[in-house]
This record gives sequence, C-alpha cells and structure tokens, in this order.
Amino acid sequence: MSERVVRQARPDDLAAVTEIYNHYVIHSEATFDLEPFEPEARRPWFESFAADGPHQLFVVEEAGRVRGYAYSGRFRAKPAYDASVETTIYLAPNAGGRGLGTALYSALFTALSKTSAHRAFAGIVPPNPASEALHRRFGFEPLGVFREAGHKFGRYWDVAWFQKGVEKG
Ligand SMILES: CC(C)(COP(=O)(O)OP(=O)(O)OC[C@H]1O[C@@H](n2cnc3c(N)ncnc32)[C@H](O)[C@@H]1OP(=O)(O)O)[C@@H](O)C(=O)NCCC(=O)NCCS
Repeated sequence: MSERVVRQARPDDLAAVTEIYNHYVIHSEATFDLEPFEPEARRPWFESFAADGPHQLFVVEEAGRVRGYAYSGRFRAKPAYDASVETTIYLAPNAGGRGLGTALYSALFTALSKTSAHRAFAGIVPPNPASEALHRRFGFEPLGVFREAGHKFGRYWDVAWFQKGVEKG
C-alpha cells in the first residue's frame, strides 16, 4: 500500500486542490459553484488559511500525489461569527471509501482543537451518504434542511446543515 501523508497545505498544492475541486464543480451538486476555476483565481481563497488559526487547510497525499483536502473557513462574514467555522472536504474521484476522509478530518479537528474555533458547521446536499457518515462519525449532528437553496443541473437542491462543538486539546 502506498504511503499516506496528511499535512498542512503548501503553496505548491494550489493546482492539485483546484483540479480536485473542479471535478465536483463540473460533475456534482456537492458544491454550488457552477464554473470551473483556473488555479490563480483560487489564490485569494487558498491564501486565506494560516497554520495556527481557526481557518486551516489540510491535504492528503498518496505516493506523493495530493488525493484530497479538507478545510475550515469563515462561516459568515460578520465578526461575531469569528469563532464559528464551516468545514468542507473533497477527495479525488475514486479516492473515496478507504479512510482518506477520516484521516483528513482527524488532522483538521486535532488542529482546530488548539485554536479559537468553537463551533463547526457543514452543509451537505442530500443524498450524500459518504459525507453524512463522515460528518456523523466526527460528532456532527443534524440541524435542519434549507429546502431548495441551490439550483444546479436544471433543478433545485436542498442543503442539510450539521454542527459540532470543537473539542479543545
Ligand atoms: C465525503 C468524502 C470526503 C468521505 O471520505 P471517504 O474517504 O470516502 O470516507 P472514509 O473512507 O474515511 O469513511 C468515513 C465514513 O463514511 C462511510 N462511507 C464512505 N464511503 C461511503 C459511501 N459511498 N456510502 C456510504 N458510506 C460511506 C464509511 O463507511 C465511514 O463510515 P463509518 O465511520 O460509520 O464507518 C468522500 O467520499 C468525497 O470526497 N466525496 C465526494 C465529495 C463530497 O461529497 N464532499 C463532501 C461535501 S459536503
């Protein structure tokens, strides 16, 4: 089995992270972005993460190749939301179902336990049994459903929201 490494993202991961994300932009309702990105267009987002704050970006590599990423970002813009984060995770196609998601979220939430992050929220477009199982495994609990909040591929999609308290370590 190839060596698996989970680590903080580095500047040279931007292209690989964008390529993984673009797969879902083009083919999946899991994200509500509609048009694929050039990596440079994602640079401001990519540079919004810091290794010691509540907004962190991790990648997982196998055989030196980035196969997925997970991050915590701002939940909402207004400053009283500063201690709330939204977490998201994407693996390369065909990389699911063998623990990479669990490895990424383990690293992310271990890191977040040492930061000011207090609550984590995640929005999942049903049906997405893998994402729901992963989030529940990490202690996310369902909050409710935003009905028909997104429109993609010619139809409306619900968003099921989940939350968890960020344990401190
Ligand atoms: C969601 C995703 C990150 C999960 O990562 P993963 O590596 O496949 O998950 P893991 O192998 O670590 O397994 C985590 C849990 O999900 C379950 N799971 C994984 N794939 C599954 C599937 N296809 N159907 C049902 N459950 C699944 C596992 O059994 C495990 O559950 P358990 O902890 O109760 O045993 C990954 O499937 C993915 O990138 N999906 C496409 C993008 C996406 O939807 N991202 C989420 C946006 S909200």
